[in-house]
Amino acid sequence: MSPSLEEPSRPKAVVELKGVEKRFAAFTALRRMDLTIREGEFFTLLGPSGCGKTTTLRLIAGFDLPSEGQILIAGQDVSNIPAHLRPVHTVFQNYALFPHMTVLDNVAFPLTVRRIGRAERLERARAALDLVQMGSFAARKPSQLSGGQQQRVALARALVNEPRVLLLDEPLGALDLKLRKEMQAELKAMQRRLGITFVFVTHDQEEALSMSDRIALMKSGEIVQLDTPTGLYDRPANAYVADFIGETNMIPARVISQEGDVTLVEAMGTRLRVSGNHGHVAGAEVQMAIRPERVSDDMRETENSAEGVLADVEFIGTDLRMVYRMTDGSRVVMRQQNSGRAVPQLGETRRLGFRQQDLRLFGR
Ligand SMILES: Nc1ncnc2c1ncn2[C@@H]1O[C@H](COP(=O)(O)OP(=O)(O)OP(=O)(O)O)[C@@H](O)[C@H]1O
Ligand SMILES: [Mg+2]
Repeated sequence: MSPSLEEPSRPKAVVELKGVEKRFAAFTALRRMDLTIREGEFFTLLGPSGCGKTTTLRLIAGFDLPSEGQILIAGQDVSNIPAHLRPVHTVFQNYALFPHMTVLDNVAFPLTVRRIGRAERLERARAALDLVQMGSFAARKPSQLSGGQQQRVALARALVNEPRVLLLDEPLGALDLKLRKEMQAELKAMQRRLGITFVFVTHDQEEALSMSDRIALMKSGEIVQLDTPTGLYDRPANAYVADFIGETNMIPARVISQEGDVTLVEAMGTRLRVSGNHGHVAGAEVQMAIRPERVSDDMRETENSAEGVLADVEFIGTDLRMVYRMTDGSRVVMRQQNSGRAVPQLGETRRLGFRQQDLRLFGR
C-alpha cells in the first residue's frame, strides 16, 4: 500500500497574511497577524466590535494597505495589485445596490466594469440570479424587494465575477432573526455547492459556530485562538475564549495539588478533581470553567459533586436553565433538556455533579 495515495491532499492556502500590521496614526488596529486561509473553506473572523475584523477584510480586498507585512492570494504577493484586479469580491452589510438599476443590471454591473459584451453580461447575470433563486425578480428595482431578497441580489452580484474568494462583512446584520437563520443555511449550502472560499465576518458567536469550517477569534487586533467550532467550544485556550463562545460558568477555585494528570482544587466549598496537569502551583487562585450543559444532577460517572440551592429557573422551550447558589456563594448555571420531568422548586437544595474531564482551569 502506498502511503502517499492514502494521505488526503492538503488543501492549498488561498489567502495568507504574514506578519501583517495595520496602524492608523498612533493606533494599532492589527498587530503582527499571521493567518492562512485554505482553498474552499468557510473561514470566519469573529470578535467584539472594534477588534479589527473589517480592517482585516479591507486589507485582503485591497481597499487598504498594511503598514507592515505581506498579503498573498493564491501564492502571489498582492501588495501592488489594486482592489479591482484582485481575485476577491466583497459583500458589505448594507448591500449597496444601485437603486435606479434593475436587479439584473445590478448583478451585471461588475461585468460592465470589466468590459464584457452585453449578451454575455446578461447571460452571466441571469445565471448568478438563478444561483440565489432570484431569477424571477430580474426586472424589479431594489426598492421593490425585501431585505433578504436584496441580500441575495448583492450575493449574486458578488458571484457573477466568479471570485476565488468571497469576503463577507456582516452580510446578514441587517436582517431580522428568522430571515437571518434562513440566509445562514442558504449561504452555507451555496458555499458548499460552489466550493468558493468564504471569509466571513461576524460578531455573533452562534452564527460563527453554525456556519464555519474554522474560526479566528479576535481581540484588540490579535487572533486569540484559531480553531474549528468544536475546538473553540470544547477546548478554549483561555478564559476570554471560554467566555466569548457560548455560556460558561467561571467558578473561583484554589489549587491544592497536582497528582499525575489530575489537579486537585478547592471550589464551591468542597474539593474537586480536574483532568489535566495545568501547571498551576499549589495555592494558586484560578478560574474553574464548566459549560452549563455539562453540569448534571445524575451522580453516576461523576468524580465530583457539590451542593447548591436553586435560586432561579428559566424556561427556554427545549431547555431549562437553572441557577444554583453554592455553599461558598459562587453561582452555577445548569442547563438541562426539557424532558418533561418535574422542575425542582426554588429554594430546594440539590447535589450537582461535575465530571473531571468537563472542568477546565484558567489563571486569574
Ligand atoms: N480609517 C481609520 N482610522 C482610524 N482608526 C480606524 C480606521 N478604521 C478603523 N479604525 C479603528 O480600528 C479598530 C478596528 O476597526 P474595525 O472596523 O476593523 O473593527 P471591527 O472588528 O470590524 O468592528 P465592528 O464589529 O464594530 O464592525 C477600531 O478601533 C477602529 O476605530
Ligand atoms: Mg466591522
